[in-house]
Amino acid sequence: MNKLEDYLVSIPDFPKPGVVFRDITSILQDKDGLQLAIKEILKLLADTDFDLVAAPESRGFLLGMPIAYQMKKGFIPVRKKGKLPRETIRAGFEMEYARTELEMHKDAVAPGQKVVIIDDLMATGNTLRVIADMVETLGGKVVKICCLLELPELEGRRQLKDYEIASVLSCDEA
Ligand code: PRP
Ligand code: MG
Repeated sequence: MNKLEDYLVSIPDFPKPGVVFRDITSILQDKDGLQLAIKEILKLLADTDFDLVAAPESRGFLLGMPIAYQMKKGFIPVRKKGKLPRETIRAGFEMEYARTELEMHKDAVAPGQKVVIIDDLMATGNTLRVIADMVETLGGKVVKICCLLELPELEGRRQLKDYEIASVLSCDEA
């Protein structure tokens, strides 16, 4: 059986020149790649006590939902602005190549609940940072952050020092 990294395809100059896009669809579309990806994230959570998974639209949903289902936890969709119908909190930031604003429902986390944040990729760490901030604003505790892939050269961990972070794969930028 292949290793997870064997399924990952890197596309140079997408979505703009100079960016190497790490494409997880090449993992997910393969039945063995998909099994491996979810099982590897589950391993990262083997010793973690938590109540909820929070994951950002859209690639975070692809990984966060199967983990929440398998672990029998609730799932919090963190959406791009304007999509959630009830009262929300919102946080914005500059991404590598665009501005993004994310929202979650104000009642998504009850005070004291333990939350795991899951995403496909940690680049600058901005996405994970604002999700962690929103969870804490609502009174939740971020007990772990899990990513399928981390780009250490972008130093996302620098703004996430207060959190336990685990990634399945790590890639240099080029
Ligand atoms: C990508 C990726 C992560 C985020 C990582 O999402 O899926 O969520 O960027 O970057 P950061 O660490 O610098 O914040 P993107 O906003 O491109 O949207 P998508 O998931 O909808 O494709
Ligand atoms: Mg994303």
